[in-house]
Amino acid sequence: MTVTDLPKVELHLHLEGAAPPAFIRGLAKEKKIDIAGIFDERGNYSYTDFWHFLKVYEAATSVLTNPEDYHRLTLAVLEESAKSGVVYSETFLSPDFCGGRDIGAWREYLAAMREAADQAERQMGITLRGIITCIRHFGPDKARETARCAADTAGDWIVGFGIAGDEKIAKPKDFRWSFDCAREAGLRLTAHAGEWGGADSVRDAIRDLEVERIGHGVRAIEDLSLVDEIAEKGIVLEVCPGSNIALGIYPGWRKHPIAELHRRGVKVTISTDDPPFFHTTMAREYDLLNQAFDWDDGMFRDIARASLDAAFCDADTKAKIAKKL
Ligand code: ADE
Ligand code: ZN
Repeated sequence: MTVTDLPKVELHLHLEGAAPPAFIRGLAKEKKIDIAGIFDERGNYSYTDFWHFLKVYEAATSVLTNPEDYHRLTLAVLEESAKSGVVYSETFLSPDFCGGRDIGAWREYLAAMREAADQAERQMGITLRGIITCIRHFGPDKARETARCAADTAGDWIVGFGIAGDEKIAKPKDFRWSFDCAREAGLRLTAHAGEWGGADSVRDAIRDLEVERIGHGVRAIEDLSLVDEIAEKGIVLEVCPGSNIALGIYPGWRKHPIAELHRRGVKVTISTDDPPFFHTTMAREYDLLNQAFDWDDGMFRDIARASLDAAFCDADTKAKIAKKL
């Protein structure tokens, strides 16, 4: 047995970003939508930098036009995750892409995804929960509509609220209303920060949005007093090393700060973000972390338990998953 065989918990996965390219190509063909330009000659997603990646992501997503597409997508994504040994996954879902933030339409998309998730749980033993995510570069007004969708469907399956997208546009405080709305509806909070923004972006998200987890957050390492604060407050980082390396934030696995953040007492977790875009899987993340930092079984088991601890699902679900770890 190697570390890649261990049971895994993934907290940071964008559902559309996890769509296998062949799945998106198949839908495009069925619907006669021309998105050939987003693939390279081998059929993988092709982009030049993070901002182009966001455009390619949205072009790929444009072929997902109804709840049935999201049912199929959810099954395809969970099948890949289960192959990597993931037993519990939290995925980012965006009403922006699912019915244009209309609450009635969003409910139908959500019902389709939940049905697929139930089927995957029965057939593959993987449990899924959703985190509704607004898109930063769509602006604060659209984020409010997204937050209303989130508040409307908050419960035992939609368990969190977050923000993704271009960190260089707007400030966390511009989204405060949306995060307050989601918190008041009982949702737990996370925000992408410290990926393209520096340490200050992490500090702003913690102060202005009162989140308990940060998506990425790795650039906190540029300010060690912030690293101490994150460790003291017990804020959890959803670290996606393969994503950061594929997008050029760090030049290689040994240069990635996850090990140093962990040494300094920060709760780190391991995720793939948008796995086919970054040519990665959860098994590959484990393998390359094992090679870069010599992390052993015990270390990965500790991280999986810490990840489950930081999950936004209820205690009964956690107890059920804990038996698998
Ligand atoms: N949306 C999908 N992947 C993302 C990432 N890595 N950062 C910000 N927004 C995203
Ligand atoms: Zn992300």
